[in-house]
Amino acid sequence: MFVSENLNTNEKGHLTIGGIDTTELAAEYGTPLYVMDEQLIRKHCRRFKDGIDKFYGGKGLVCFASKAFSCKEMCKVVASEGLGLDAVSAGELYTAYKADFPMEKIGFHGNNKTNEELELAVDLGVGHIIVDNISELERLEKIAAEKGKRPHIMFRIKPGIDAHTHSFVKTGQIDSKFGFALETGEAFDAVKHALSCKNVELVGLHCHIGSQIFDIDPFEEAARVMLNFIADIKEKLGYAVPGLNLGGGFGIKYLNSDNPQPFEVFMERVSAAVKKCCEDLNLDQPYIYIEPGRSIVAPAGITLYTVGARKEIPNIRTYVSIDGGMCDNPRYILYSSEYEAVVANKANEERSEKVTIAGKCCESGDLIGENMPLQHAESGDIIAVCATGAYNYSMSSNYNRIQKPAVVFVNDGTSRVVVKRETLDDIIRNDV
Ligand code: LLP
Repeated sequence: MFVSENLNTNEKGHLTIGGIDTTELAAEYGTPLYVMDEQLIRKHCRRFKDGIDKFYGGKGLVCFASKAFSCKEMCKVVASEGLGLDAVSAGELYTAYKADFPMEKIGFHGNNKTNEELELAVDLGVGHIIVDNISELERLEKIAAEKGKRPHIMFRIKPGIDAHTHSFVKTGQIDSKFGFALETGEAFDAVKHALSCKNVELVGLHCHIGSQIFDIDPFEEAARVMLNFIADIKEKLGYAVPGLNLGGGFGIKYLNSDNPQPFEVFMERVSAAVKKCCEDLNLDQPYIYIEPGRSIVAPAGITLYTVGARKEIPNIRTYVSIDGGMCDNPRYILYSSEYEAVVANKANEERSEKVTIAGKCCESGDLIGENMPLQHAESGDIIAVCATGAYNYSMSSNYNRIQKPAVVFVNDGTSRVVVKRETLDDIIRNDV
């Protein structure tokens, strides 16, 4: 009935998440509120991990892309499921470190890492640093030499794959700020350079073709392109690159019309493509990494809001205004992303109207969506926006000096705050 499997209704006709009445969560913790179902997050971690075990003989690591949702408690959940982590800034690294995340299971990303970030990654002993460009390689070599360390690195490669997704979240094509180009020889020269470096060890190659991709073909194609490059390096430079990181990007269901393949199908097909290509090229099967972010957390989350004003503009549209908006969910204003919404206290009623859900920022584009089918919503009702577990809290801002909402985890009939709601004093904490 609802877009995510953890959502249902109870005998009062209220929306539930992980079996808990969402209107009770709103009453207990206030709104706006991010609610995440820990059981579903864990289930998704296991399905990816089991996929590597079943289809690739366990010779790989699933690294949760923490840019999708990062906080200490999330790092603890990910660690307890045996996954690794993809971190993309000093802040994400530090969060993992403070959550006692095993540093050797972290891949450190970023297209323009600062020296301070590189130093932190080396000091913390992250598993590998995914180097994006030659300037970074040179700076890292120097930092490693000064510290007497030899960090493991991978190179981020642009495989030249055009995935069918929003242009802002597309990354594998030639015209991208991320990584080394294959066809110009830039990537090959970088590998040659790295193999001559004393202070770094090249352990793998990385690609990420984009995000919210439903079609599995481009992932298979990217794996083939990368393996051909690995074969080329072996032939010309005599070095067998041991690791292959295929990035993240697996699409999820935001609307009932979205139809992603089960994770298992993705894992099976990509594993088969890697095996077959290794056979054809006479290569040893590499250790593989994948970096799912959205697919692990997005369906596990919802955001709860309280309705304030309702404005009916005859023959134009009806605005239903909520106590949050682009500060806690900037994805409509950025990508025109669509969501399913439900009036949580009327969840069994028919969605009888189509409305624009508007936020409270001084910005006309501050909308959660337009033309959204919804139950008749009035002041005081609770609206749930579904599948907001990824790139909502992590992309939230304090525009208009609005406090960020709390994040609550529900698990087996219980709930707990994992990120506190910001206070007005938090808003001015750095003001001098
Ligand atoms: N690995 C790398 C190197 C990435 O750049 C990303 C996402 C991921 C993994 C995880 O991708 P996922 O499985 O979550 O699709 N803010 C945008 C999404 C940006 C994705 C950036 N990179 C959104 O809200 O749709």
